[in-house]
This record gives sequence, C-alpha cells and structure tokens, in this order.
Amino acid sequence: MLRRWNTHATHPRYLGLFSPCPRKASLVADALLALYNPQLASWNSAPFANELERFTLRVLAGEIGFDIDNIACHFTSGGQESNFTAVVAALTHAFPGYGLDGLRGLHACPVFYLSEQGHGSFDKIAHTTGLGRRAIRRVATNRDSRLDMDMLADMIARDRAQGLSPFLVVGTVGTTAAGAIDPLGALSDFCGKNGLWFHVDAAWGGSAVLTPMLKQHLEGIEKADSLSWDAAKWLSVSMGAGMFFSRHPTAVTDAFRVEVPYATHVTHLEPDGYKSTMQWSRRFIGLKVFLTLAEIGLPAMRQEIEHMCHIGNVLRQELIGHQWKIVNQSHLPLVCFTHALVEQDRVSVQEVLKELYRSGDAWISSVLLHGKTVFRACITNHRTSDEDIRALVGSLNQILTQWNDGQNK
Ligand SMILES: Cc1ncc(COP(=O)(O)O)c(C=O)c1O
Repeated sequence: MLRRWNTHATHPRYLGLFSPCPRKASLVADALLALYNPQLASWNSAPFANELERFTLRVLAGEIGFDIDNIACHFTSGGQESNFTAVVAALTHAFPGYGLDGLRGLHACPVFYLSEQGHGSFDKIAHTTGLGRRAIRRVATNRDSRLDMDMLADMIARDRAQGLSPFLVVGTVGTTAAGAIDPLGALSDFCGKNGLWFHVDAAWGGSAVLTPMLKQHLEGIEKADSLSWDAAKWLSVSMGAGMFFSRHPTAVTDAFRVEVPYATHVTHLEPDGYKSTMQWSRRFIGLKVFLTLAEIGLPAMRQEIEHMCHIGNVLRQELIGHQWKIVNQSHLPLVCFTHALVEQDRVSVQEVLKELYRSGDAWISSVLLHGKTVFRACITNHRTSDEDIRALVGSLNQILTQWNDGQNK
C-alpha cells in the first residue's frame, strides 16, 4: 500500500517540494537509530551521539561562516521548529520579561518582518507564541521575488511611530515558491543599525553555502543572528533533519532553560539539549547527516549541489527551446514556468498537471506567483539526470499537443 498509495518523492522525476532522495548512509543511520534508540536529552545518557551531532553541526556552521567556538547549534524536527526556536530566542533576547510574565507582562507590542514570499510556518509560530498572526508584517517583494529593502525601512518607521516594537527581521534563502534569495548583506546591516534580530530561513537553500558558485549570492549570511537549515530538504537525507544555529548561545539557553530534580550531573562544557532547545527527548538526528557526508565527503557533496543546479539550467533551456516561458529568476534549481496557452486561458495549469500525474511520467507542482498560477519544478534529487528533464518536458509537450488536437476536432 505504501508503494501504491504514495507520491514517490524519492524518484528522480519527482521535481516537487524539497524532498531529496536519501542516500544509503541515511537509511543505515535510520536503522541503527531504531536499534540503539539513544536518548540525546542529556549528554550523559548518549555522549557519543551528542558529540557526533556537535561535531557535524560545527562543520556545517563553519561552511556558513560562523565562529564555531561561539555558537548555539542543534538538530530539530525540521525547518518549522528551527524557525520557532529563532522567534522564541529573539523574543527572549529583545524582551527579557517575556520568559517569566509572557506577552501580557510587556508594555510593548512586538512585531516582526518577513517578505510576502517568506514561509507560512511563521504564521503558525506567531499564533502559537502568543504574538498573534497580526504581529507578522509581510514586506512586499521586487519583481524577482526578493524582499524590498525600502519597503521594509518604511514599514518599520511607520510601525515604530505607531508605538509598535519591531524585534526581528527574517530573510529567506530560497523561497518556497520561487527560489528567491533575499538581500542578506543589506538586511544584516539594516538589522545591526536598528537593533533588530536577523534570522535567516535557509531551510531549503542552506545547502547553497557548500559551493562557492552559489555562496557568492549569500554574502552577509554569516552575520545572521540565527539560521535555519534543513538537511532533509537538499542534502540527501530522510525527513526530520532540521538544524538551528545562532551566534547568541546565551539567548538560546535563556529561552529554554529548565531545572529538574532527577537530572544527572556531569561535567562538560555545554548545557544538555533538554535545557537549551525546544525538545526534551531527542532523537539522534545527526547520525544520518554525518554518515551521508562521510559516505561521499564534502567535496563530492559540493559537486552534487552543483550538479542539481546544472540540471535546473538544463530544464530552463529545454523549456525555452519548446516555447515555454520561465517566470522566476533564481540561482537555485527551482524553475517556475508557463505557456502561451495557459496565459491565454485556453488550458489551465491544473488540467495539465492532472494529465501529467495520470501519466505517472513525472511530478511537478503549481504555484501562485505574482497573481498567476504557474508550473513549478525543483531539483533536490542527486539522481535526476538530463534525460529525466527531457522526459518531463517531452511529457508536458505531448499533453499540450493532445489537448490542442482534441480542441481542433
Ligand atoms: C523556506 C522554508 N522554511 C521552512 C519550511 C518548513 O520546514 P519543515 O517542513 O521541515 O518544518 C519550509 C518547508 O518547505 C520552507 O520551504
């Protein structure tokens, strides 16, 4: 039933929503986890697992450009938990009373900012932290879907004039809809000057730091106060491999500190996970990330990311060569596109997708971009080849031809 009633996200022709094909090392790690079931809540109960996670995260933190001797970092269930952690840490940092008295104890009315393309997890986070969904200020984007800095400055000035208290700005690396990268350098400067916490949601796009080809577009990322990155979106591991990093270890520990009478005490440098993160019991998430990187090595992982960017370019060329129109600009392998027949309302995106899904040839999604529904294809599978791309475009062409023929009968 799992084989039959399931969208096969591990297939090389699944070009959908940030689900890579886990490598063998990731599968082995998941099996080992089930066997040993280590509990990472405290260092004492699983020293090897805790140390391996710390090692893995520090290697990746170094790739981002953080000072690895002065950061908080831990694994999370995914991008949403990492973003949640960032908002709670930023709130605790900006409003020290928040921890004891909650929002009702504040004289301020905290608000935070992200682009209108920023991830929907922040709506839920605003709701569940008690900030309220109206605390999110969505900043307009440019034509290329990047946050507009002038708009941000205007909104913050207006909100402050009305007595609101801005405390956080979120920049995205790789928006879910169109793969846009917000202007990180400008955002970090702006936040530094205005006393705001700067969080980078790089849940999917974080892996771009691994290759100089993409890292050149991420200037300023190393100045983020906190960052979300999810290995399960673009590092060939199975789901549940979020990562959270912050340059402010004390702010993070302050947000999650707790004392219990039954804890065992050992001497080691950092606080146990149950005292410094949202989770209590902790799975050994880091093993699959470590083993996957160890299986092929960082240089090969860099090449894989570059390969997927190459495949994205092949897709762009194939589409343009067959009269499709690209409607997003991204350095990442995410392509949004449409066709004249769709623009003229002669066939809808959903009708084409229905046929594509029925054929079982490939899987892509749709997205609402600048008020129009368009096709969206994203390459996160290291096994996707040029041939898969040609098969996808061939299939789309065939669907349109058959549809045209049907209309002309
Ligand atoms: C940019 C971004 N942030 C956060 C998330 C939420 O991540 P998760 O589903 O791992 O909780 C996603 C999910 O796709 C995302 O694309």
